[in-house]
Amino acid sequence: MARITASVYTSHVPAIGAALDLGKTHEPYWQKVFAGYDYGKQWVKDNRPDVIFLVYNDHATAFSLDLIPTFAIGTAAEYEVADEGFGPRPVPKVMGHPELASHIAQSVIQQDFDLTIVNKMPVDHGLTVPLSLMFGQKDPVKDAWPCPVIPFAVNVVQYPVPSGRRCYELGKAIRRAVESFDEDLNVHIWGTGGMSHQLQGPRAGLINREWDNAWLDKLINDPEACASVPHIDYVREAGSEGIELVMWLIARGAMADAAGGPKPVLKHRFYHVPASNTAVGHAILETV
Ligand code: DHB
Ligand code: FE
Repeated sequence: MARITASVYTSHVPAIGAALDLGKTHEPYWQKVFAGYDYGKQWVKDNRPDVIFLVYNDHATAFSLDLIPTFAIGTAAEYEVADEGFGPRPVPKVMGHPELASHIAQSVIQQDFDLTIVNKMPVDHGLTVPLSLMFGQKDPVKDAWPCPVIPFAVNVVQYPVPSGRRCYELGKAIRRAVESFDEDLNVHIWGTGGMSHQLQGPRAGLINREWDNAWLDKLINDPEACASVPHIDYVREAGSEGIELVMWLIARGAMADAAGGPKPVLKHRFYHVPASNTAVGHAILETV
């Protein structure tokens, strides 16, 4: 049986990718950001997943106003790295896991969540920056990412966006789906995006340290209460792009306690302001 043994939460700021790709990680500004990932980089080496189910959002890269899936699961064998305007990031292409992804699609759709099935999708910074943060810089040709990745894209860009509650319940359905896959696989689920940031309008640059940390406390210790936070609170308190945080609730809903099992163990928690326009948050929860 496949199992979800851990969840990883992290922001996905594009400038972090640029700092890595342009060799700026040792600059004082960036050092403080990357130091928060030293633990996670070692942890993921010691707790190697067979597959990562990576929840992220596409930033009008693969999708546009022409087509706006609320939840899209990648069932392809591989995904190219998107060109977001400066050429594709120099990182390896992303290998998928079509068998597990198709199984999850079947199971989750039969559990009444309508997923869009995607067989061709360039992946943007929302997916590649978290991979770089946890696995370090990789050569685009000579290296490969350490394991297959199932991309799961959530619409948090064009309103209406899904509620935190729906994301949390979807996470529970994903756990059931993974646990009904026959092969013994160690699966990690990652929730990415956030924390507080607003890139547009008169409040551009908004950061809310108190709210972010209170929300993270709730995510870790009382995910039911966290799932009840209405979407307007994210926008008011964490900024228009702070809504990306609902994606963390998918990963949290997939942990055992959401299904009545034991509480996960907090292995690491990190918060830093600023990275570009964003408050960077990062946490790791492990199933006991
Ligand atoms: C920034 C953050 C994001 O999450 C994003 O998708 C784009 C830009 C930023 O802080 O610059
Ligand atoms: Fe984003």
